[in-house]
Amino acid sequence: MKPDDDLIYLDNNSSTRIDPGVLEEMMPFLTERYGNPSSSHRFGAQVKDAIKLAHERVAALLGCQPNEIVFTSGGTESDNTALHSALQMTPGRRHIVTTSVEHNAVLNFCQTAAKRGCEVTIVEVDGDGHLDVAEVERAIRPDTAVVSVMWANNETGVIFPLEEIAAICREKGVVFHTDAVQAVGKMPIDLSRQSFQFLSLSGHKLHASKGVGALFVSRNSKFHPMVIGGPQEDGRRAGTDNVASIVGLGKAAELAASTIEEENTRVRALRDRFEETIREQLDDVAINGDPGARLPNTSNLAFLGVDAQAILIKLDQEGVCCSLGSSCTTGAVEPSHVLRAMHLTNEHARSSLRFSFGRYNTEAELDRVLEIIPRIVRKLRQLAPV
Ligand SMILES: Cc1ncc(COP(=O)(O)O)c(C=O)c1O
Repeated sequence: MKPDDDLIYLDNNSSTRIDPGVLEEMMPFLTERYGNPSSSHRFGAQVKDAIKLAHERVAALLGCQPNEIVFTSGGTESDNTALHSALQMTPGRRHIVTTSVEHNAVLNFCQTAAKRGCEVTIVEVDGDGHLDVAEVERAIRPDTAVVSVMWANNETGVIFPLEEIAAICREKGVVFHTDAVQAVGKMPIDLSRQSFQFLSLSGHKLHASKGVGALFVSRNSKFHPMVIGGPQEDGRRAGTDNVASIVGLGKAAELAASTIEEENTRVRALRDRFEETIREQLDDVAINGDPGARLPNTSNLAFLGVDAQAILIKLDQEGVCCSLGSSCTTGAVEPSHVLRAMHLTNEHARSSLRFSFGRYNTEAELDRVLEIIPRIVRKLRQLAPV
C-alpha cells in the first residue's frame, strides 16, 4: 500500500518508508530466489552470496569487517544479544551500567537481569538530556560486566560522547555496547577508529524492512549467542536467515552511506526551518534536548500549556504523523520515560511531541505543516487557556 498522497510523515524515528531501491533488491528473494542459503546446491549458494554481499555493505557503512556483522531480527534482539553475551563472557561479573534514557530494549533487559541476580546502575541525564561522562566512569566497578550507552536518543535526538565512554571502558577492561539504532544512517560512523565490542542497529530506521537488524561484534571480542540452533551467521545467530530483509538491509546500508551528507544538510535545514518558524509563530514552545548536540532530523517540542495528545489527534486528522515520545509508548497516558528522566515536569512532558524528518520529506510538506501546527495550537490554547 502506498502512503496517502496527502500524508505528511514526520515520524521517521519510529519507522521509515522502504526505499524503492531496497525493495527492488529484496523482491527476487521473496519470489524466484527462494533457496535456503545453507543448502549445498548452487540455487542455495546464490542466496548465500547475496547474504555475503549484505555483510559487506553493512560493514562498509560502519567501517568494520564483514565478519563482524551478525544479522538479527532487529534492534531489540541486537541489544538483548549484546547484553546477554557480555554477561555470559564474564561470569564472575554481574553488574551493568546503563543510562536512564535508553530504549526499553536495554532498560527492560536490565530490569529482568536484576531480577535474576544482576545489579544495575542507571546513570541519570541532565535537563538537556546530556550524560556526564565522569558519572559513567564512577559507576564502573570491578564486577561491571558491560556498559551500555545509546549513541543517539530516539526521542530527543541528543547524541552522547561515545568515544570518551568507550575509551574509559577500554582502559578499565569493561565490555562496551552501544544501541546505535537511531544513529546509523543519520551520522557518519567509523568503527575502525573506535573500541566498541558491540553496536546494535535496526533495518526499519534506515529505509529497510521491519524485523531485521544487525549486531556488530568486534573481532577482538568473545561472543556468546543468545539464539541457539543451526550454524547460521557463523554460529552466532541460529535460524534460517531472513534472506529478503537481510538483502534489503545491505542495500539500505549502501544507500545510507551515500545519503548521510544529505541528512546533515537538506534534512537538517528542514528541521531547523521547522523549529525556527514554529517558535516565531507561537509563544511558549521549548525544544527538549540540547539543540546543539542532536541528530539532524529530530525535533522534540513542548507546546507549553497544551495537551500534546490533543495536538497529535488534530494533526492526525490533517494527515500529519508525529509521535508522543517513543512510539513504543504511544497510546500510554504516562509521559515518556526519556522526558521524565530529563527532570521535565509532567505538565511539560505531556505537552511534548516528537517530529522526526527523513529522506522523503519536502519543502512543500514543511510549508503545509507550518500552516497547520500554529493554527491547531492557537485554537487549542483558545479553548483551554492556561
Ligand atoms: C534507540 C532504539 N533502540 C532500539 C529500538 C528497537 O528496534 P527494533 O524496533 O528494530 O526492535 C528502537 C526502536 O524504536 C530504538 O529507537
